[in-house]
Amino acid sequence: MMELDSLVEAARRASRNAYVPYSRFQVGAAVLCSSGKVYTGCNIENASYGGTICAERVALTKAISEGERQFERVVVVGPNSSPTSPCGICRQFMAEFGLDVPVTMVGESGESITMTVRELLPDAFTPEALK
Ligand code: THU
Repeated sequence: MMELDSLVEAARRASRNAYVPYSRFQVGAAVLCSSGKVYTGCNIENASYGGTICAERVALTKAISEGERQFERVVVVGPNSSPTSPCGICRQFMAEFGLDVPVTMVGESGESITMTVRELLPDAFTPEALK
């Protein structure tokens, strides 16, 4: 699928901007919005390690701060041969904006797995709970 290929390429390109002096683990993400726009992100680490932000949340915060709310797909590309799986914080962050969004996780040589946010975070705590 061409659209997926270009999202993977966008995420891979973003991963080259990763600021990772501590882990050296470069991650890139791309999010396709219902507007048709694509936002990318990379992980950004901090000397105070807990201040690190993952590539997925960088891409999503860029999109959300531009007014986007509806996401068609999230792609994450990591440096391992097997696909890189989003951390728990990113799963929760994505769950806020839709449990049915597909997340495509890609390895260094292109191997990929796609799962929905619901599959990645079963029984999620969502905005519904606060209604
Ligand atoms: N990381 C991401 O950016 N996304 C993931 O899906 C997994 C982990 C980052 C956080 C940190 O900079 C580095 O990878 C090692 O944990």
